[in-house]
Amino acid sequence: MKILQVNSSARRDASHSTRLATRLVERLREVAPESKLTVRDLNVVPHPVLDEAALGALFTPADQRTLEQAERVALDDALIAEIQAADVVVLGVPMYNFGVPAALKNWIDAISRAGVTFRYTEKGPEGLLKGKKVYVALTRGGQYRNTPSDTQVPYLKTVFTFLGLTDVQFVYAEGLAMGPDAERNGLAAAHEQIEEALAA
Ligand SMILES: Cc1cc2nc3c(=O)[nH]c(=O)nc-3n(C[C@H](O)[C@H](O)[C@H](O)COP(=O)(O)O)c2cc1C
Repeated sequence: MKILQVNSSARRDASHSTRLATRLVERLREVAPESKLTVRDLNVVPHPVLDEAALGALFTPADQRTLEQAERVALDDALIAEIQAADVVVLGVPMYNFGVPAALKNWIDAISRAGVTFRYTEKGPEGLLKGKKVYVALTRGGQYRNTPSDTQVPYLKTVFTFLGLTDVQFVYAEGLAMGPDAERNGLAAAHEQIEEALAA
């Protein structure tokens, strides 16, 4: 089994979402010790934003690209290859200003490529990243699960489904900025959800 862990917190050691994602990976590897793990930390190696130069590079035929354009496309190619190779994808995702971190949006922009990870057919879009299991460890200062303010889950469900990633399980650590008791409870609840997710 090949596991891809994607960390998107701007924090390193202190990040709860990274810790929860790491815990998920540890538990997966207890069940499947031979698993191969790739860790993509979007804070350690930030992926560039999808700007005009990047779009220009992507829409230039490969044999006509400048060296700079080829290098830019190669950065996205590397992320696409990682997720194509993975059987299981584990993401750590903090809530930043009611959305996903910009670093994660850059990753999503990189892996969403027409003809490679999705395509349009006469019946509509078809995701091409099929047959993978996805776990998402969400961390929030407040409590937004199942409320309209939780824009993260509908967004991630929509984009993952579009790419063919239909088997997605969310783990929530909420209330992390609401005092020590709420933080402890929020993290304990997330650890329980990890066990439930892996037992499912
Ligand atoms: C820049 C920034 C924006 C944040 N925005 C929100 C928010 O909109 N809603 C929320 O509940 N928590 C918000 N938080 C709190 C984080 O979601 C919380 O601290 C979480 O634990 C961060 O994830 P991490 O521990 O993996 O770094 C924000 C934190 C930061 C640093």
